[in-house]
Amino acid sequence: MTFSTASPADLPALQFIESHQDYPWSETQLASCFGEGYRVRLLWQDNLTVGFSICQRVLDESTLFNICVLPACRGLGFGKLLMDDLIVEARAAGDSAIFLEVRASNSEAIGLYRRMGFEEVGRRKGYYPTVSTREDALVMRFSLDKV
Ligand SMILES: CC(C)(COP(=O)(O)OP(=O)(O)OC[C@H]1O[C@@H](n2cnc3c(N)ncnc32)[C@H](O)[C@@H]1OP(=O)(O)O)[C@@H](O)C(=O)NCCC(=O)NCCS
Repeated sequence: MTFSTASPADLPALQFIESHQDYPWSETQLASCFGEGYRVRLLWQDNLTVGFSICQRVLDESTLFNICVLPACRGLGFGKLLMDDLIVEARAAGDSAIFLEVRASNSEAIGLYRRMGFEEVGRRKGYYPTVSTREDALVMRFSLDKV
């Protein structure tokens, strides 16, 4: 298992993994994550990219914008490895906290974040569009001071 920092040349691999999400980001959205302050990390098993994380650092806080593991590779600990990597990188950069937003219906991701020690600190009503209506976003925070 290895990690690498992605470059725009990795966009096709990111797009392929992202295409399996219920609400996938567009190529333009993914491409915009190679700007100032962003960190895009890839997790590899052998020669296959099995997952990625995208975060942005502003001042002393990181925000996780996206994390995704190939469907066939879920439930095997890869999501946790990506989160461990995020936390290690944020701590090394001197961050005080990591924030994220997640759809209230996304029980897999919420399970992962709680498992890592993230705590719910807010809720944005009707923040995300769905096919037919809107749903809330949970705002979660991981304190880097406490561990
Ligand atoms: C969320 C996601 C990244 C988790 O990746 P994963 O590799 O399957 O997760 P792991 O195998 O490392 O599991 C780590 C923890 O997550 C939680 N978890 C994983 N799958 C879960 C599920 N189906 N239901 C509830 N909790 C789950 C568990 O707490 C698990 O810890 P445990 O194995 O000790 O019980 C993956 O489901 C995914 O890519 N989902 C689609 C993309 C997405 O929704 N991203 C979040 C956007 S905000």
